[in-house]
Amino acid sequence: MRNLITLADFDAVEVDRIFSITEDLKAKYRKGLRESLLPGRVMALLFEKQSLRTRVSFEAGMIQLGGNAMFLGPEVGFGRRESIADFGHVLSQYVDVIVVRVNRHETLQELAKHCTCSVINGLTDYAHPCQAMADLYTIRELVGRLEGHTFAWIGDANNVARSIAVGCGKVGMKMIMATPEKHQFDDESLEWIKRQAPDLDLTITTDPVEAVRDAVVVYTDVWASMGQENEREVRRRDFADYQINAKLLSHAQKGAVFMHCLPARRGEEVTDEVIDGPQSVVVQQAANRMHAQKGILAWLLGAKG
Ligand code: CP
Ligand code: NVA
Repeated sequence: MRNLITLADFDAVEVDRIFSITEDLKAKYRKGLRESLLPGRVMALLFEKQSLRTRVSFEAGMIQLGGNAMFLGPEVGFGRRESIADFGHVLSQYVDVIVVRVNRHETLQELAKHCTCSVINGLTDYAHPCQAMADLYTIRELVGRLEGHTFAWIGDANNVARSIAVGCGKVGMKMIMATPEKHQFDDESLEWIKRQAPDLDLTITTDPVEAVRDAVVVYTDVWASMGQENEREVRRRDFADYQINAKLLSHAQKGAVFMHCLPARRGEEVTDEVIDGPQSVVVQQAANRMHAQKGILAWLLGAKG
């Protein structure tokens, strides 16, 4: 029984294997084939925060694999009706895998400790590993071999950035982050990333132009994540010089692509011109959430070794 709580749960060989499974399933999907790898398997989705991509791509992906998916609403009383331990013990009796999106990473860790089925992180305040897997898979589709390429992160050192950092370390990409000083990774995060991805070549700067110069990917995310809504105005000011616009993108290599995990706040971290422009791959990226998660499910649930 394997979990995906953070990318620390996968080694480099496993990441590569999941990408191969993803590639195969995506090619089949495009030909109209739905390979029934998980018949009779059941997924539960438990979400404390809003979601379009994660929720729908997991449900659709599981159904395409011949399994079933059920979205658990507030009536299951997660965190309110009984202990997280009791909740995990019992839910594990009914389903094969639980996809969880919670406010606090510790809640997910506590739940996973008490589950006897697989648990997948569908986003916490600390990590978003499924996003990072789909994003690295997307870059692999675009550039082929990932090793040695540079990934530029412009903006907040948040859950997505933490997962991408570990992912870059696993696949041999360099990462350069441009973030205002007060929003950079704290020591705990840096130590965690270093532990999980000791080979990662990570540069942290406050200069977005320096960050994009050698990058094949220029990536951003919202400046205020879910749960930070009350900091939105302050963050808008703090990050004002970190918008990805045509001028900043003009400093990147000619073939560089723009990526964003979405949802985007157009006019804040990215302009319409960039997100709708020829370098943007955000739709391909969002589509790959489903394909990469099908790869993750097939691998985690043992349908593909
Ligand atoms: N990128 C992402 O996880 O989107 P949702 O919040 O819509 O799931
Ligand atoms: N950092 C964002 C990602 C959303 C997919 C958030 O946590 O809200």
